[in-house]
Amino acid sequence: MYPNNRKRRLRKSAALRDLVQETQLHPDDFIVPLFVVEGNGVKQEIPSMPNVFRMSLDEIQKEVQLLWSMGLKGVLVFAKVEESLKDNAGTEALNPNGLMQRAIQTIKSTVPEMVVFSDVALDPYSSFGHDGIVEDNNILNDATIEVLAQMALSHAQAGADVVAPSDMMDGRVMHIRKALEKSGFIDTCIMSYAAKYASSFYGPFRDALDSAPGFGDKKTYQMNPANRREAIDEVILDIKEGADLVMVKPGLAYLDVLRDVHNAIDVPIAVYQVSGEYAMLRAAAERGWLDYNSVMIEQLIAFKRAGASIIASYSAKDAVDLLG
Ligand code: PBG
Repeated sequence: MYPNNRKRRLRKSAALRDLVQETQLHPDDFIVPLFVVEGNGVKQEIPSMPNVFRMSLDEIQKEVQLLWSMGLKGVLVFAKVEESLKDNAGTEALNPNGLMQRAIQTIKSTVPEMVVFSDVALDPYSSFGHDGIVEDNNILNDATIEVLAQMALSHAQAGADVVAPSDMMDGRVMHIRKALEKSGFIDTCIMSYAAKYASSFYGPFRDALDSAPGFGDKKTYQMNPANRREAIDEVILDIKEGADLVMVKPGLAYLDVLRDVHNAIDVPIAVYQVSGEYAMLRAAAERGWLDYNSVMIEQLIAFKRAGASIIASYSAKDAVDLLG
């Protein structure tokens, strides 16, 4: 009690504050989302995501070398698939020579130590822009998870260290795990997007991949943003099915969920600071309404404080630059 307790004593100098700081950010905390496109020398900025680029494989090579030299150890790969290759079944997703598979091979041969996380979901490959196969305006669960298992296997064959199903179909982790085990990929990790909400924060990402749903929305498979306890149920199911890592997504609007999951389970948790979160911060900073660097660090540290082991963030490079 005052005056014995004066909380301000430990805040007196920067060095003292550093010594008692509970949470620290480190380059090891981050994975970097990468958008891959066909072509050569392509580096296109995504209009709604300043300073984030779609890159062809030669540019990706330079990028992963840079990331590794900065101390960043993981990338989360998304492929922008050409319109002519899209169909309802996501057939191109299984092409052993598809863009995603070549991207994985390219990254692993350029920087073998880089941990490659590959996105497993049909939406970039779907003519409907949905994460599953469509029939009569329904997204089919069981037919989709058959394809996802084969897709994950083809990523593992290409060299992915971690396959990351982001689709929210039921039972997909079990199917993927079985397919990997059966083919001898016993060390391939699964990071499941276990608590992924039907969020309006994904807009800029869908611009980046041209993957917005052609009809309806994703509410029959992604979670209702109003639900908190259901996230624990989703996460526990995915761990039982064979997930090594689980994700909560989006980030900032779901910090309560992140902390609940952290308290409920013991596997490492990833959080995704999604495209809309990044876009909001950039837009406010461009107007001079917020300071990009300090708000960015405040948000990233909030994820770690709430319980994240891994933060997927479009600001990862900027953060590491600041951390020095
Ligand atoms: C789709 C997927 C999405 C994101 C990652 N994987 C969008 C969606 O579910 O529609 C969003 C990432 C972001 O917004 O940064 N499988």
